[in-house]
Amino acid sequence: MKAIAHSNYGTPDVLKPVDLPKPAAKPGEVLVRIRATTVTAGDYRARSLDIPPGFGLVGRLAFGLFRPRRQVLGAEFSGVVEAVGNDVTRFAPGDRVFAYPGAGFGGYAEYAVIAETAAIAPMPADLDFDEAAAIPFGGATALNFLRDKAGIKPGDHVLVIGASGSVGSAAVQVSKAFGAHVTATASAGKLDMVGDLGADQVIDHSRENPAAARDAYDIILDTSGTATYPKYGSSLKPGGRLLLVSANLWQHIGTLFARKRGGRKASGGYAPERAEDLRFLADLAARGQFMPYIDKRFALADAAQAHRYYESPARKGNVVITNAPA
Ligand SMILES: NC(=O)c1ccc[n+]([C@@H]2O[C@H](COP(=O)([O-])OP(=O)(O)OC[C@H]3O[C@@H](n4cnc5c(N)ncnc54)[C@H](OP(=O)(O)O)[C@@H]3O)[C@@H](O)[C@H]2O)c1
Repeated sequence: MKAIAHSNYGTPDVLKPVDLPKPAAKPGEVLVRIRATTVTAGDYRARSLDIPPGFGLVGRLAFGLFRPRRQVLGAEFSGVVEAVGNDVTRFAPGDRVFAYPGAGFGGYAEYAVIAETAAIAPMPADLDFDEAAAIPFGGATALNFLRDKAGIKPGDHVLVIGASGSVGSAAVQVSKAFGAHVTATASAGKLDMVGDLGADQVIDHSRENPAAARDAYDIILDTSGTATYPKYGSSLKPGGRLLLVSANLWQHIGTLFARKRGGRKASGGYAPERAEDLRFLADLAARGQFMPYIDKRFALADAAQAHRYYESPARKGNVVITNAPA
């Protein structure tokens, strides 16, 4: 089968077309003919080893100490079940599915196998393969931080910093689906996009300081890697929560030791890959409450170009890599 692989860390040029044996579904596994995948921050970091300061060794341990352990990237994908292994009961050939292997990767290929008990779910009926492929990374991260770490509830005031990216654009929509009032920050050329996603108020982060508001937010979710508790703590309401989706070690340490008054808290950590979250997001999508924002699409053969575009400052939301049958 055709795939895109990298055997060294580096620029997008390390991504090369290769021919690999077609995998087979072992007991408990599902073989998927992949129709679309994406470039996520996970793919970018696993390819480039551009890891937030302080987590370099953790990154190398996760992705491979000297060279990539997983040579075929693709942290999320959609496609059609081609075959199932013995004992598989949840999926059958012909099912349209989307999946979130996360750091297991594998989406930059014609086929992938994934355990039926892993993060895989039926596609929402009205979405196409490109749209479904772009749900998991941004959607599941936003859902985990907002619902599971912060307990978002109707009427909450939420500030999303970095709302024009994959996680941020999902966080705006997930917050609205939970009945929150959303203030979102983005750079000048992306303000309309963020407003169209449903944000109630939009801030150009190059002209206005979102940390200037006092006691204003129940939840502040940062995807930009620029937030710390000392910077944003006083913008939280008493009992409010700062969510550091992306932060380096020193920001985490600064936040951990910062004096937090009035029940205000801060959380970082990892958002897991779970089938139940994919089903939850598929329900939101089916109800019209969540649609991943797709900026551009590239063919699988042009994966290096897709990564180059992903890195450009103009990029908004998600970059999809399509892989329709020839
Ligand atoms: N903890 C976890 O489990 C987890 C899971 C997924 C992702 N992550 C991490 O979360 C981060 C976000 O992921 P993503 O996929 O959403 O990335 P992304 O698509 O690149 O979005 C990041 C956003 O940050 C904004 N930004 C950049 N510099 C900024 C600044 N100085 N001030 C304000 N905003 C700024 C950008 O918006 P503008 O262009 O509009 O400025 C961009 O849209 C990544 O670092 C990723 O590794 C963590």
